[in-house]
Amino acid sequence: MSRSTPARPPAEPLTDGTVTLRRRDVADLDAIVAASHDEETKRWLEDEPLPVLVDDEARRAALRRADDAWTSGRAAPLVIADAETDEAAGLVNLQFRDDRTATVAYSVFPAHRGRGIAPRAVRLVVPWARMSLGVEELLLEADAGNLASIRVAEKCGFVLVEEVVDEDQDGRERRTLVHRLPE
Ligand SMILES: CC(C)(COP(=O)(O)OP(=O)(O)OC[C@H]1O[C@@H](n2cnc3c(N)ncnc32)[C@H](O)[C@@H]1OP(=O)(O)O)[C@@H](O)C(=O)NCCC(=O)NCCS
Repeated sequence: MSRSTPARPPAEPLTDGTVTLRRRDVADLDAIVAASHDEETKRWLEDEPLPVLVDDEARRAALRRADDAWTSGRAAPLVIADAETDEAAGLVNLQFRDDRTATVAYSVFPAHRGRGIAPRAVRLVVPWARMSLGVEELLLEADAGNLASIRVAEKCGFVLVEEVVDEDQDGRERRTLVHRLPE
């Protein structure tokens, strides 16, 4: 699933003075790899834990994969950084279903949780997605047990529209709450 055209990153980082959303940089990569091994992240996100980046070629390849998500129109992966220090605190990602619909996904690195960082990131990415990328419909999917993520959806004004019941890779029942942002 993707857009029919590439997604263009923001010309300037998006900021509210506390967090900044910007493209992925080589300095972020070790924190991104470490966070992919966090138990909560593995529990709620389907992404595989990332291998340690052993050399510069592995780092360049990791950045190329992120660039490819933009140019293929598949996704818009952004880093959530501290607006003062520029240290990476998490990730927010738009995943494009087509030219009008995108899903918002996020993770905040463990040491930064519980301080409203994910809601700040969602509130920054939503108007940019609408104005700069022409996204009309914004969806947010969270496992029914992921109370922290559901709170983020609620705090950002998303409303529950559907519960999808299916099976995960191990055949266990999975209940996904689909939220939609009213226009
Ligand atoms: C879900 C997640 C992104 C929330 O990010 P955040 O920046 O901590 O969000 P908030 O600070 O607004 O906290 C949201 C809720 O988390 C819970 N929370 C509070 N402190 C917390 C802490 N220290 N650690 C974990 N969760 C906490 C609370 O229920 C809070 O809701 P409240 O504000 O009504 O009290 C983050 O917990 C995370 O990265 N989890 C693992 C990955 C994940 O689940 N991603 C979403 C997949 S759909």
